[in-house]
Amino acid sequence: MIDNIKRIKEEATGRITSAPDVEELERLRVHYLGKKGLLTSLLHQLKSLTPEQRKEMGAVLNEVKTEFETTITARQQQLDDQRINQEIEKSPMLDVTLPGQFVSEPGSIHPVTRVTEEVIEHLKRVGFSLASGPEIELDAYNFEALNMPAHHPARDMQDTFYVGGPVLLRTHTSPVQIRTMKNRKPPLQIISHGKVYRSDYDQTHTPMFHQMEGLMVDENISLADLKGVVNHLVKALFGSKPVRFRPSYFPFTEPSAEIDVHFGNLGWLEIGGCGMVHPKVFEAVGYDYEKYSGFAFGLGIERIAMLKYGITDLRSFFENDLRMLEQF
Ligand code: PHE
Repeated sequence: MIDNIKRIKEEATGRITSAPDVEELERLRVHYLGKKGLLTSLLHQLKSLTPEQRKEMGAVLNEVKTEFETTITARQQQLDDQRINQEIEKSPMLDVTLPGQFVSEPGSIHPVTRVTEEVIEHLKRVGFSLASGPEIELDAYNFEALNMPAHHPARDMQDTFYVGGPVLLRTHTSPVQIRTMKNRKPPLQIISHGKVYRSDYDQTHTPMFHQMEGLMVDENISLADLKGVVNHLVKALFGSKPVRFRPSYFPFTEPSAEIDVHFGNLGWLEIGGCGMVHPKVFEAVGYDYEKYSGFAFGLGIERIAMLKYGITDLRSFFENDLRMLEQF
């Protein structure tokens, strides 16, 4: 048996080290080490030997097996190296020592994200914290609790996407305020922001846009607090510019106003709406309107970005045109 093994070993080593390719190498591996391979069958033959012989031959066979494995791995490595070297030689222009190329330009922050983060930063500084809610909303929170019962004409101010039944895509971020007030007691000082949806499409309207709202509720909150916060925000965003509160109407605030900012020769431009929370809204969320008062304001993020960066078409925010986005 020993002679047999010796013979196999010599033959195998020769064949493995001169195997011309990986396919042949794999065939040899199966031939010697596979389930029905030569070495395996020799191992099976051990059964017919005496215990001493078995021990001795077993050790020899296992050693040979390890040797085969090492030789095969080494040849495999050689063949791989050869193949790579051949490929490199085949393409003489390739200099693997050259530094890599950058395939794409570094990205930039979308103006909507940028303005959102900036506004949050400015409002956090005066005590606001974030609240959030779903984009798919209930009529009850988007309209009803905000003093817009079914058939209320003010619903026409917001061309709504109805999903079906009492479910719709929120038309503003105000329902987040309802949800938060229902869950928490005053004092409250929150910002809600995110996507809102209205069935509109022209130069100044897209079916989806972003709003940011602030709500502050406590005892003795007055219009002066609202003006203080809004003035702070406008100044932080646009520098020292005149701000004007122009009387307006929202069902959920009373009194209500539009916030206008004076931009040099562009004149007065509206950046959002605001007002003192309507008693009906407090009633809907179970707050005592004799004890508490509050203000709310809502801003269009794209509108602020347009003013800050001189963008003239609102739709360009969402067309993913790199020529536009690269400017940021
Ligand atoms: N939710 C209002 C809108 O989308 C904006 C607003 C918010 C107005 C808060 C007043 C107070 O039209």
